[in-house]
Amino acid sequence: MSICIELTGKTAVVTGGSSGIGLSISKVLLNAGARVIIIDIDEKRFLNVQDEIKKISPEFDFYEADIKNSDKISEIIQKIISKESKIDILVNNAGIVKDGLLIRMSDEDWLDVINVNLNGMFYITKNVLKHMVKAKSGRIISIASVIGEIGNTGQANYAASKAGIIALTKSIAKEYAARGILANAIAPGFIKTVMTDKLPEDIKDAIKKSIPLNKIAEPEEIANAVLFLCSELSSYITGSVLNVNGGMYM
Ligand code: NAI
Repeated sequence: MSICIELTGKTAVVTGGSSGIGLSISKVLLNAGARVIIIDIDEKRFLNVQDEIKKISPEFDFYEADIKNSDKISEIIQKIISKESKIDILVNNAGIVKDGLLIRMSDEDWLDVINVNLNGMFYITKNVLKHMVKAKSGRIISIASVIGEIGNTGQANYAASKAGIIALTKSIAKEYAARGILANAIAPGFIKTVMTDKLPEDIKDAIKKSIPLNKIAEPEEIANAVLFLCSELSSYITGSVLNVNGGMYM
């Protein structure tokens, strides 16, 4: 039996869709036939990949916005609804790190990470949910991290923000299940990005050894999990955290 995931007719909003995992998610959803609206703080990043995206499908649009700006986000979601008439899928992907040991972490670095990773998800989700509730359907997929499940030295702000994403996801799942809205989180482990590419080979080898599947994931391996959670194949899954980490935490 071959199963093909079809998202034709669906409109998806992807935050941080101009690079890394978000770009991969945008491409996978476009490949499945969805219309994809990217919200990203960095228009230049988007312009660099625009042609790459166009090769897959012309069914995309871009809005420049900082997700931690509540007023701007409600304005942008309103604009998207006016133009697209609906949002079927929301992928909360945009995220940042500002690492440091807790004792030396500035209030600014703590707040920046919480404001983007957690408060940003709240602002977007709140605005999108209003329309999903009216439509009585919707999928919300938020990118957490294995670090939000197990914590990490030097990443207290990031770990707290990602644990918050998981708790917020479960609350959305409970609050809106009766309205036909499914909310799930994905907790990636180590992913091949510009950042992990730069690590010295011996560090990469040590990382791989700590992962039962013995490899660092490709961004597409996260995007494929998003695709599954957008599809009818996951119609009975809500409030869950899908670990996509090669077995490093179960
Ligand atoms: P990235 O840095 O390559 O991409 C993040 C994107 O979000 C960029 O396009 C950036 O411009 C955008 N962005 C950043 N701040 C923003 C803001 N305030 N408003 C709007 N857009 C903003 O990051 P990557 O590695 O692709 O990560 C994507 C998500 O996956 C993040 O939430 C990250 O925490 C999570 N993750 C990444 C892992 C990894 O190994 N790369 C592992 C586990 C989770």
